[in-house]
Amino acid sequence: MNDTLTLLNRHRSIRHYTDEPLLEEDVRAAVEAGQRAATSSAIEAYCCIRIRSAETRERLVTLTGGQTKVADAPGFFVICGDTRRHRLAAQRAGRAYDSRLEAFLLAVIDATLFAQNMALAFESLGYGFCYIGGLRNRLPEASKVLDLPHGVYPLFGLCVGRPDEDPIERPRFALDDVLFEERYPDDAQVLRALDAHDEDVASYYEKRGDEMPRWTERMIEKFATPIRTHLGSYYRGQGADLT
Ligand SMILES: Cc1cc2nc3c(=O)[nH]c(=O)nc-3n(C[C@H](O)[C@H](O)[C@H](O)COP(=O)(O)O)c2cc1C
Repeated sequence: MNDTLTLLNRHRSIRHYTDEPLLEEDVRAAVEAGQRAATSSAIEAYCCIRIRSAETRERLVTLTGGQTKVADAPGFFVICGDTRRHRLAAQRAGRAYDSRLEAFLLAVIDATLFAQNMALAFESLGYGFCYIGGLRNRLPEASKVLDLPHGVYPLFGLCVGRPDEDPIERPRFALDDVLFEERYPDDAQVLRALDAHDEDVASYYEKRGDEMPRWTERMIEKFATPIRTHLGSYYRGQGADLT
């Protein structure tokens, strides 16, 4: 173990924060670390919007399914894929911008790598964080609240603050059920991995004193019906050609 590995392995999402504000120098250091993430062909197709307005935060609480941490966290950022810069460069040069699904994926991948570097930098500075995928619950409305221009794709939020809780670590699949040698395993091996993970997750919830259905049951439920079906038309409306 070195300090980096210790930090990475210590991660837990933090959902309760003290009132201590983020230090401006820490915000800038974390965003700068985010920017050091690798970026596909150096396109830097991302940005993050820091939301300080209490009124905007309250509206986002409602739009994220009542996640009060969006208002309570000392820091809240909206992580976006950003193709606007490329579009404006093309427009200024009188050239067409003809972006397809690949460009959308590049923006999503770039923004996610940026966000994770930024989040880990915050952790290294003693903060805790929680991503907010709930931002996509009612994305067209959230996008209006945020006044996002064409070409900018909001993906998820990021709450940041000094931890006011100390949760136990959530289990992950066993390493060898994620790291495969040469080829993807057969279905029987994958199913054995699911059983093992069900056991690990069950003991995690037992330790927390919570009753929960098995992990596989929750995944079956989660993926049995379509959710957030507005996303395709929303992102297309923002300029993403998903073909
Ligand atoms: C893209 C993304 C979106 C997430 N959205 C939410 C969210 O809306 N609300 C929440 O409480 N946690 C959210 N999480 C946190 C996950 O629930 C958490 O990472 C997962 O349960 C594993 O727990 P851990 O981060 O403590 O290891 C999100 C995580 C990711 C990566």
